[in-house]
Amino acid sequence: MGKDAAQRILFLRDEIRRHDHLYYVLAEPRISDRQYDRLFAELKALEAEYPERVTPDSPTQRVSGRPLEEFATVRHTVPMLSMDNTYNAEELRAFDERVRKGLGSDDYEYVVELKIDGVAISLRYEDGLLVRAATRGDGQTGDDVTVNVRTIRAVPLTLAGLRDEGQRTRDEGLPAVLEVRGEVYMPTSAFEKLNKARTERGEPAFANPRNATAGSLKLLDARITAQRNLAFFAYATGEVEMKASGLRRQASGGRPATRDGEMATKDTGRMPVLHGGDAGEAGMTRLAEDHFTVLTRLKELGLPVNPHIEKASTIDEVIEICNGWAHQRADLDYQIDGMVIKVNRLDQREVLGTTGRAPKWCISYKFAAEQAETVIESIDVQVGKTGTLTPVANLRPVLLAGTTVKRASLHNFDELRRLDARVGDTVLVEKAGEIIPRVVGVRPELRPHGTKEFAVPHKCPECGSPVQKDEGGVYVRCINARCPAQLKERLLYFAGRGQMDIEQLGRALVEQLVDVGLVKDFADLYRLKASDLEPLERMAARSAANVVEAIEQSKTRELWRFVAGLGIRHVGGQSAQILAERFGSLEALMEADRGALEEIDQIGPVMAESIHAYFRKEDNRRVIRRMLEAGVVPTPPRKREPGRLAGKTIVVTGTLEAFTRPQAEQAIRAAGGKASSSISKNTDFVLAGENPGSKLDKARKLGVKVINEAEFTEML
Ligand code: IVH
Repeated sequence: MGKDAAQRILFLRDEIRRHDHLYYVLAEPRISDRQYDRLFAELKALEAEYPERVTPDSPTQRVSGRPLEEFATVRHTVPMLSMDNTYNAEELRAFDERVRKGLGSDDYEYVVELKIDGVAISLRYEDGLLVRAATRGDGQTGDDVTVNVRTIRAVPLTLAGLRDEGQRTRDEGLPAVLEVRGEVYMPTSAFEKLNKARTERGEPAFANPRNATAGSLKLLDARITAQRNLAFFAYATGEVEMKASGLRRQASGGRPATRDGEMATKDTGRMPVLHGGDAGEAGMTRLAEDHFTVLTRLKELGLPVNPHIEKASTIDEVIEICNGWAHQRADLDYQIDGMVIKVNRLDQREVLGTTGRAPKWCISYKFAAEQAETVIESIDVQVGKTGTLTPVANLRPVLLAGTTVKRASLHNFDELRRLDARVGDTVLVEKAGEIIPRVVGVRPELRPHGTKEFAVPHKCPECGSPVQKDEGGVYVRCINARCPAQLKERLLYFAGRGQMDIEQLGRALVEQLVDVGLVKDFADLYRLKASDLEPLERMAARSAANVVEAIEQSKTRELWRFVAGLGIRHVGGQSAQILAERFGSLEALMEADRGALEEIDQIGPVMAESIHAYFRKEDNRRVIRRMLEAGVVPTPPRKREPGRLAGKTIVVTGTLEAFTRPQAEQAIRAAGGKASSSISKNTDFVLAGENPGSKLDKARKLGVKVINEAEFTEML
């Protein structure tokens, strides 16, 4: 390839990284979205022309094209601990007392941070390259969510940091290993947009941004995660190993090394022994001597660090900062559920130690959930897609945590009975990070005369059929298979993005279609003609044609989407994927007996029973048959291609030209192979670069095949 093109690719990558950093980390964009898109498109085109130049850290490689089957488990080399909570100033003072006693001195300061309400993540960078992202899990092991985290544009794929106008400082003081701990979150604005779109499409809304974040990180298809606008703040480090050479000078020496984020550990056995903290010492295990400087250093490396971080030298100052944020938090575009107070100096943290599950040098201060008082004006009963009736309170509008609240969930009839909430009651509503508030209490002393206990309905409020109650009456369901309210919810779910993905079929249209009797089941959708739709309200000729076209397009959706769309109780998208993979065709799934269903891992007896019962019902079978007659042909799952290196164990040694070691290992794993660090007779190949050393000798001795970089690239 031309040298120019190669150089242009490198230039574009650096440029895009620089603008990502300016936009997502510093929030100081310098170019328009259009200019950015142009750079990106040019890079994509060049990489398409020269595919051998694509490296995993290219900004074009954030989103992986293939869904995962499941998440691998990752063991944290440095455990991810939890935090003790406080709820008032007294408890904060008691914490300060313990710190003072523990240190035997007054000479310490705190760093006060926002407690971001998201999902804790550990990012592992090796030689500056993001190689793994894992959830906290139980603190010892978590899920490998690398492919999803790579889609978060605030998370740099390569460390470097940009100092002064694009001056990259690659390699200078870059740690050999750096685990960055932080919080993935969904900005409130992105959350509201997501929920709006979901409700419009009849999909269940997420209760709060934290759930939306967790849900987005657990998606097996990273292409969907990429659309969720997740963001990230770094707040600590885990394992750190500085390179032997090229170290930046550290401020002071003489203290034993520790890792920020936990006490000096006996538990990993991997900490190199250090002799003082001299600058230039091999294997330094921290970025700096105090937390505030660690955060500064993370920022320099290109990581997003929350800007609202303050030092405080007394507990009074800490309390003042916390009180300020209890109100100010309404102005942020992300949710915080409290503050985190940390002892700044790392050597002092070590003296204080941990209690096993939580460090003694840090504490969280939780805000009280925001509450407001208002009056219940009426209580509605909503009918869900499987017929479940849910009580919802209509409230006298009240301002709560920055938004006007008009409705609040009462969850179920058991909860309603427990609260004894009645129309006319003054109630306490709470928004504990939840966007749909809940009624948490009633003020009986303010109850007007003549109120009545809300009666659990005996009939469906929509179709009037008798309802079925489960034991205890917690869940009440309308069992009329033809209930129009259920039908509407089922159709909306069927058309939802996670199922058949028929974008034009929104709530307003579905309601009309059911109300005028054009659609009585899924199959009727596939018989609709533009001329049926044109007479409907707000339906121009063009849009009628679009709707019919969109429904037509959905006929060949993947089998799992079709199965998910049926809305079988307990069967979500993930289970539908498992079923599609296992049975391969709709016919086989429909005829599966209970035993065959129960045999499948991840399909429990309750789900197996529900699936079996669904397909035994003649009504359901008839609707499916009619869909197939109308030309619906769900696409069966593709036989998965094993990666080119499937089953192969490869050892990388020496210096490669186009890859760093972790990049090469990542490429091996991506192609289905196993990257190992030690050679045995089970090794299939040794990939040898420059100066391969003793591994090459060993490979030759064992008769293991040795390949060079060009052969390796060819294999990929
Ligand atoms: S420091 C030893 N700093 O809160 C604990 N955590 O309740 C190290 N969190 O799992 C964590 N914002 O996910 C720290 N500024 C912050 C934080 C923060 C949010 C989360 C974190 C942790 C949870 C503990």
